Amino acid sequence: MTETQLNGASASGPGNVPGPRSSLDRAENLVEKLSERAKEIIARYPADRSRSALLPLLHLVQSEEGYVSPAGVEFCAQVLGLNKAQVGAVASFYTMYKRRPTGDWLVSVCTNTMCNVLGGQQVYDTLSEHLGVGHDETTPDGKVTLEHAECLAACDYGPVLTVNYDFFDQVDPDTAVALVNELRAGGRPQPARGGRLCTLKEMSLQLAGFADPRPEAVADGVAGDPTLRGLRLAQQHGISVAGFDPNTPIKAPTGGAPAAEAAGAGTSKPASDRKPAGDAPQPQEQALKEAK
Ligand code: FES
Repeated sequence: MTETQLNGASASGPGNVPGPRSSLDRAENLVEKLSERAKEIIARYPADRSRSALLPLLHLVQSEEGYVSPAGVEFCAQVLGLNKAQVGAVASFYTMYKRRPTGDWLVSVCTNTMCNVLGGQQVYDTLSEHLGVGHDETTPDGKVTLEHAECLAACDYGPVLTVNYDFFDQVDPDTAVALVNELRAGGRPQPARGGRLCTLKEMSLQLAGFADPRPEAVADGVAGDPTLRGLRLAQQHGISVAGFDPNTPIKAPTGGAPAAEAAGAGTSKPASDRKPAGDAPQPQEQALKEAK
C-alpha cells in the first residue's frame, strides 16, 4: 500500500473517469473511506503482531460493505501485508463474517438442543416461511437475513433469537413474526437486554472496536432470574463443591517446553507472524512508515 493510499487519497482523482468497479477499484474506495480507522485498529497491536488486527479489520469492512466483499479481502490483505488466501481463510472460518451481501437485520434463531426442545425449530420454520427465505438468505427488500444458529449462549432464556447479536428472549412463532414485521416496517424494537437495536453495519463498527456514541447504546443490567436459578437452588439446599477455594492459584504446567518457548519466543519472530509466501504481500510495517 502506498503512502497516498494509506493517507486516504483515491487513485481516481478529479478529472479521472471512474473505471469498472473491479474489486481493486472497490479496495481503493475502501482505502479512502477506512484508512484512518484501519490505522487506529492496527496501532492497538504490537508492530510484530499486526496480523492480530485482522479480525477487527474484517468487522470494519463489514461496517462499510455490509459483508466481507472481495474488495474488503483485498483491502485487509494490503493493509496487513497478508495474501488474499490468508484473509479469506479467516473470514470464512468465523460465522460472524458474511461472505454475501447481508440485510440490515441479521435474525439468528437458535435451533440448538435447549432452544429446540422449547420450540426454537418452530420459530425458525415459521420465520422461514413468513419471510420466504432459508438459512443465510436475505429478503428481496434487502432488510432481513435469516440464519439458524447453534447455541447463542442464552439457554436459560430459550427459545432465543438475536437481531444483530442483541437478544430477544423466550420468543414463539407469533412474537418472532411480529418482530420481523416491525423491523421491515422501519421500527427498532427494544431487545430483552442491552441497548436499542442498531443495523448490522452499525453493529459491525462497534465490533471493530469503535464505541457507539448513542446514550442508549449500552444498557447494563443485573443477571436475570433464570440465570441465577441454579445458584439460588444451591444456596437453598446448602450445596457447594467440597473443598472449593475460589482463590486457588492456577498451577503452571509441568514438564515439556515452557509455553512461551513452544509459542515461538525462541525465534526472532513469532511463528504465527512470519510473512506469508506468494501474492507478494506488502509489509504492514512499511505501509505504516509511509503513512507518517
Ligand atoms: S441452546 Fe439456544 S441459546 Fe443455548
